[in-house]
Order: sequence, then C-alpha cells, then structure tokens
Amino acid sequence: MRKLIAGNWKMNGSLAANEALVRALLAGLGQPACDVAVCPPAAYLAQVQQLLAGGAAVALGAQDVSEHEGGAYTGNVSAAMLRDFGVRYAIVGHSERRQYQGETDLQVARKVQRALATGISPIVCVGETLAEREQGLTEFIVRRQLSAVMALNAARLADIVVAYEPVWAIGTGQTATPEQAQQVHAALRAQLKAASAAAAGVRILYGGSMNAANAATLLAQPDIDGGLIGGAALKAADFLTIVGACA
Ligand code: PGA
Repeated sequence: MRKLIAGNWKMNGSLAANEALVRALLAGLGQPACDVAVCPPAAYLAQVQQLLAGGAAVALGAQDVSEHEGGAYTGNVSAAMLRDFGVRYAIVGHSERRQYQGETDLQVARKVQRALATGISPIVCVGETLAEREQGLTEFIVRRQLSAVMALNAARLADIVVAYEPVWAIGTGQTATPEQAQQVHAALRAQLKAASAAAAGVRILYGGSMNAANAATLLAQPDIDGGLIGGAALKAADFLTIVGACA
C-alpha cells in the first residue's frame, strides 16, 4: 500500500516560517514514492493552502476537528470549515489533546464521524503512556482507543488512517524500536482485520520521535505504513529525508 508521511507542526510557525518551510518542501520533493501531508495550526490553513496551490504533491491537514457540526462552540473549528480550505486529513485524538484538553475516546470517535461525513480522512491517534507500558497494558490501551472509533464508524473504517504514537516517545527523542512498534502495529492490524477485509487495508502510521536517521528502519516494518512526524517536520531537509525513506 502507498505510505503516508504527515507533518504535525503542532503550535509552531509564523507566516514567514511557514512560507520558507513550504517553499523548501515543494522545491525538494520531486516525485515522492508516498503520499505527503502537512498539518499546520488552524490559523495558518488558508496561508498554507495558498502556498500549496498548484502542486498536488502535498496535501493539507488539520490538527483537530470539532465533534459538532456547527453552532455555539466558541473556539471550535468544524469539519465543513476545514473542508472550505481544502483540508484532506485531520489529526484526531492526538495524545496532547487527550492529555491537555481531556478528550475522551467517545469524543474522539465523534470527531472521526464528523470528519468522515465531510470527506476528510481522520488520522486517529492511539498510544500508551510509559506507566501503562510498564504495567503491560500497551495493547489493551490502544485497542480500547481504536475500538471506540470503530464502534461509531463501522461502515467507514476503510477511510480512516490510524497513527500509533506511544506517549513516552513523543517529543522525547526516545523512539520506539522497530520491533516494539511493529508488535503494536500488528495488533492494531489484527483488530481492524477482524472488522472487515477493507479495514485491514487501513494505513497505520508510526509517530513519536521519528526522524531522518531512524525513519528507514521503522518504515521497513511490514505493518508500518507511514509516519506522523512532529519535531522533524519543522526542518525541510529532515522531513524530505523521511519522505525519501519511503522509496
Ligand atoms: P514528535 O511528535 O515527532 O516530535 O515526537 C510526533 C507527534 O506528536 O505527532
């Protein structure tokens, strides 16, 4: 299956920095062997849409989407609004949102539903904390997080993307080993496969300190279908190296 490399810029960037980064990406990308997306902060979606216009090589993604269709939800951004700016992917249930915004499995499942209803592919993040891993709960946690999404979106599973992001690996430089990642990816694949043959083909990305040096070995694992890249997505050269590692 065609891999996906998505950059999660988190709350970083400025008009000037975004322009420099996107121009460097477009200049260096050539004909990538994988799908490529960047997910800037919501405030910059219009700017980055403009910068990407004309080139189909990089898709636009958002970092979150509201679970509501519209109305009195101050500060939220709806799936339809994202769609107005050409957004193709939306990260949903990132651990930073689960942790700092208190997002629950059910909210995440509803966000997935809203994205799918609007033609946006949700990138559903799952992952265990260090304490959960040490207690042997890794597979239990990620299966629980994914099953909430699957229960509410059974008919549309083929249109989601999953990202396994161990919380202890995010932004820490402590990448999961390829074996650790593959083991969890295989468990998630089995869970999807049990739902339907179409769901077995869902792309499962790895995220958590994936970088230019370790991307190739991670991406060589049989059930790792791409990457969700944080820190390394802010440096054009590093992000391009990761994209190149898909070849
Ligand atoms: P990181 O972030 O690559 O900086 O660890 C990944 C993510 O949070 O999506």
